[in-house]
This record gives sequence, C-alpha cells and structure tokens, in this order.
Amino acid sequence: MIERIQPASRLEGVLRLPGDKSISHRYAMLAAIAEGRTRIHNYSTGADCASTLGCVGALGIGVERDGTEVAIDGRGLDGLRPPAGTLDAGNSGSTIRMLSGILAAQKFASRIAGDESLSRRPMGRIIQPLEAMGASIAARDGRFPPLEIHAARLHAIDYTLPVASAQVKTCVLFAGLFAEGTTVVREPARSRDHTEIALREFGAGIGVRGRTISLEGRPGLRPLELSVPGDLSSAAFFLVAALLVPGSHLVLEGVGLNPTRSELLDFLIGMGADVRVRNLAIHAGEPVGDIEVRHSAVGGGTIEKDLTAALIDEIPVLAVLGAASEEGITVRDAAELRIKETDRIATVAENLGRMGVTVEVFADGLRVPGRQKFRAAQVDSFGDHRIAMAFAVAALAADGESAISGAEAAAVSFPEFFGLVAGARG
Ligand code: S3P
Repeated sequence: MIERIQPASRLEGVLRLPGDKSISHRYAMLAAIAEGRTRIHNYSTGADCASTLGCVGALGIGVERDGTEVAIDGRGLDGLRPPAGTLDAGNSGSTIRMLSGILAAQKFASRIAGDESLSRRPMGRIIQPLEAMGASIAARDGRFPPLEIHAARLHAIDYTLPVASAQVKTCVLFAGLFAEGTTVVREPARSRDHTEIALREFGAGIGVRGRTISLEGRPGLRPLELSVPGDLSSAAFFLVAALLVPGSHLVLEGVGLNPTRSELLDFLIGMGADVRVRNLAIHAGEPVGDIEVRHSAVGGGTIEKDLTAALIDEIPVLAVLGAASEEGITVRDAAELRIKETDRIATVAENLGRMGVTVEVFADGLRVPGRQKFRAAQVDSFGDHRIAMAFAVAALAADGESAISGAEAAAVSFPEFFGLVAGARG
C-alpha cells in the first residue's frame, strides 16, 4: 500500500495512543499461566500483540477479545496444552523470543515460526541460555526461526546477558518461572523492566538489585485486572512530528512513562524541545502521564552507550529529527539496529538519502548533520513499521507530496497511525 503524505501546516489536538506493545505481550503471556481470568484494558491494537494472543489461544488458553478489551483464562503454570500446529509469531520478535521461554519448559514439543523478516532474526541469544537451563531447541542453521522446542525439565541458572536485550531477559525469566530454585539474570546495561514489574504484580517472588534480577521458581501467579498505558514508542512519532512542524501543539494522554523508556523525553528536553509531563500516576507499577509538546527549535545530541539501549526503538525517528535540528544527531553503539525488523541503519540511511538528506553511516550507527531540508520523495518502509512511521513524519516537513510504499507495515505496532496524523492536521 502506498500512502501519500502532504506537508503539514501544523499539528494540533489531544490524542490517545494505543496500548504499549511491550507491556501487552507480557500481560498476555503471564495471564496465560496465571490461575484464573485476567482482564486487560487498552491492549495493543498492533498485529504483533495479536500474534501473541493467537499463540496463547493455540496453547489451549481461552482468549476473548473485544477491540482493546481482552480476557484471558489462565490455567496455571502447568495448564498449557500442546498446539495442533506451528505457532505463528508473525513479524514479532517479542512473541517468539519471550514465549520460547515458556515453551521450553513444557512437557510437550512445539514449533514456532514467523514471517520472512522474523525468519532472518537471530535466536541464538535465547537458545543459548535456554539450553543452559536444560532446554532442547532446534533452529534453522542453528540460530534462525522456525524453532522446534522439545519437552524438557528446566533448572535455574545464573545468567549474564551478552547484550542488553529485554526480550532475552524476559525469555530467561519466563523460563525461570518453571524451574526449581532461583534464576538470576545480570544485564550489561539496563533494559526496559516491564517484565520485572509485571511479574511482581502477578505475585512472583522477584528481587532487583542494580542490574541483577533474581526470580524464585514455581510461583502461583494470581490473575489481575490491568490497564495498558499508551505506547511511548508510538508517541515518539507525534513528539518528533510536532517538533518538526511549525505552530504544532499536541497533548498525548495516558502514555507509559516507565523510567527505562522515558529517557526519550529527557533526551528531547536536553536538545531544547518544549516537552512537559502532567498528571503522573502509577498503574500496576507502571508510571503513566500526559505529554504536552510544542513545536520548538532543537539543538543536537549524541546517542551512545547505555542511552542507545534505552532509545533503540526511537532511533529511526530521532535520525529524522536530527536532520532538522541545529547541530544534528550522532548514534553510536547501535549495531543491534542492524538486526531489527530491517537493518535500520541501512533503511534509515536509504530513505534519508531519497529525501535529499546527507547522512554518514558507521558499522554501529550513523550521523545526521543538522540544518537540512526534506525533499519530497518516494520512500519505502521495507516492511518495517518504525521505518514507515519515521518517514511519514519526515514527509510532514517536506517541500511537497511524498509517497511511502509498504505503509501498511505501520499496523504491526500502530494501525491508527495514519488516521491520527490526518486528524491532527491543523
Ligand atoms: C522489546 C525489547 C527491544 C525492543 C523491542 C521490544 C521488548 O528488543 O527493540 O521493540 O518488549 O522487550 P531487544 O530485546 O532485542 O533489545
């Protein structure tokens, strides 16, 4: 699908964003192994989180969905049933990596696969710790989906993550739920901690000290009533759009502001952006608030070291912001970007180039000099949701009509995106 985007004269309004993708996956998986009915409000509308619900249902768990309201009838740690066929994770790295932690501990074998993009994403990072826990997993070429996960009895481990990955951390912790004893996970840099927060809410015995997490095996998980905060990574597209388009003023209501994600706001404010937070509250351990953003001239910034891990999903749209900033944006220590839904260093650089923006590419990042203009162009999502949306944002500030091919990819995390953009045009 080609989406044509006219430049915007300004963006304004009060928006509500769909539920956070990361949190929705975790709530659905934990609800499946809790003892009773969990109700989830504002469940993510994205295709990725629908893939998780599909897998949970295929494992014999009752799932009722009415739009963003989801009810899951958990059957306890030992209540999953063998799936009739291959589990379909679609485009979702979170689904395959996190659910594999649960599948590896079952008394039955399962097979989990995904689309073409997911089939190229590395799974060695979960296979290695799961095998250390006693799992038995076969993968294409030893490291790519589909995964064939055999029945096994897991034991607890003390595992140091080689890369800061919340998906891998979650996979090991979910497996640790089924193992006797205490599973310990040590992180090289702090990654999003929605799993730790959700596990505590569901009643697991979990302790966090700095970057070390300890989890007691074999808890009884209680069912909950939960509301998913708006997705800050989806909000990022509107924050940058408002900063780029003169005269813009947006309020984004009910957005998740977990400190492991909200460094995005600190980074923008540090660049000089007029971004304010109001009405802070805590829902099920997760901070939530409204974000107000006004168009502002922004300086420049460097994303490196631990900050890279904290902003990893926002880098495509921050690269777009860099071009329009005064001093540009530099991204380093971001080799992980090359193994996301696309090689995001390459796809960002390609689309920036098509829009007439100069960019310098490194093995582990890129530099986008500031004070550049976006030329209207035909850009491509390359099948990657965040690339589709990042370049729709660039197109709002271009000098004429742009076209985004493969724009339907946005629905992986944010199906309402183009409609909300249209509604915010002043
Ligand atoms: C996620 C973790 C990150 C992120 C992804 C969602 C999660 O991936 O990029 O969009 O929900 O845990 P990695 O674990 O590969 O860093």
